[in-house]
Amino acid sequence: PELAAFVRDLPKTETHLHIEGACPFQLLKQLDPIKHSQPPPFWADDFRYRSFQQFMDLYVQYCSEFYTDAKRFHEAAKIILKNCVDQGCRYVETSFHLPTLLYLSDDGPTIIDAIRSAAPAELELRIFAGMCHNDYKDAGKDLIDSCLTWEGLDGIDLHGPEDLPLEPWTADIWEKARLAGKFTKAHAGEFMGSDFVDRVIDDLKVTRIEHGVRSIENPATVERLVRENIALDVCPISNLKLAVEGIPSMNRHPIRELFDAGVLLTVNSDDPFFFGNSLSEDYYALVQELGFSLPELAKLAANGFQVALLSEESRASYM
Ligand code: HPA
Ligand code: ZN
Repeated sequence: PELAAFVRDLPKTETHLHIEGACPFQLLKQLDPIKHSQPPPFWADDFRYRSFQQFMDLYVQYCSEFYTDAKRFHEAAKIILKNCVDQGCRYVETSFHLPTLLYLSDDGPTIIDAIRSAAPAELELRIFAGMCHNDYKDAGKDLIDSCLTWEGLDGIDLHGPEDLPLEPWTADIWEKARLAGKFTKAHAGEFMGSDFVDRVIDDLKVTRIEHGVRSIENPATVERLVRENIALDVCPISNLKLAVEGIPSMNRHPIRELFDAGVLLTVNSDDPFFFGNSLSEDYYALVQELGFSLPELAKLAANGFQVALLSEESRASYM
């Protein structure tokens, strides 16, 4: 109870949240009360995905059922973002899978407006377009090129299966995105090792890595993260549920070692619908399983505002 009150009252951020992966179950239930009369099986306490592929298959199955137009994105975002605020979040970065737009009747700017207009007034929201290593093909090319001109879009990020080859277009698009005033980040070091973390830093020139926990496999990578002030947006429960290599249980999660090494880390929930977690529970786990103290939790929460895309003035007001 003391821990719960401390975490609740801590001003927090959520800088690694997939909007599709945060689909509110109540909306699925409303949509099809018979099919969704029971909570999804993966909400069971000890549920572990067998593979990233199994997770992706379920992700596509559930997300394509619900996220069909801008109205649905708005409805979901209203619940998701209110839930963030209720847990003490003041700043959120959420990402949507960009190529989904190829199958929707609403265009990108309309989807982005639908998400943005769902944010409570007291929340700072940044919206990212996510894409996979192999999405720059066919109609996806035009979509990726054109999203860089969308005014409402704050940034882009790389996600999906990490073991697909990193193609040359990514470095080019990441550079163009920054020139267009967009922020850039990338998933790395979740299913591939520290070499891939080094690679996205070198090639894509990102300063924010989503996950990045397998950096722990190479001390030189960890040192470099510290030296170059590169932040890892870590999602402890997600890593456990997705059976990330080297993390058989929460008490073995490398966040403790990365924190002690001085890496700039934030705590996030990733895909709460699929992992049955909440941001608060990710914080609890650090205390309960990894010996984090309350001042250390406060440091992690403050790091979120440090990496947030905020003016210096508003950053200071939150920290
Ligand atoms: N990793 C990569 N891509 C993703 C994830 C993840 O954990 N969640 C949603 N897209
Ligand atoms: Zn993610």
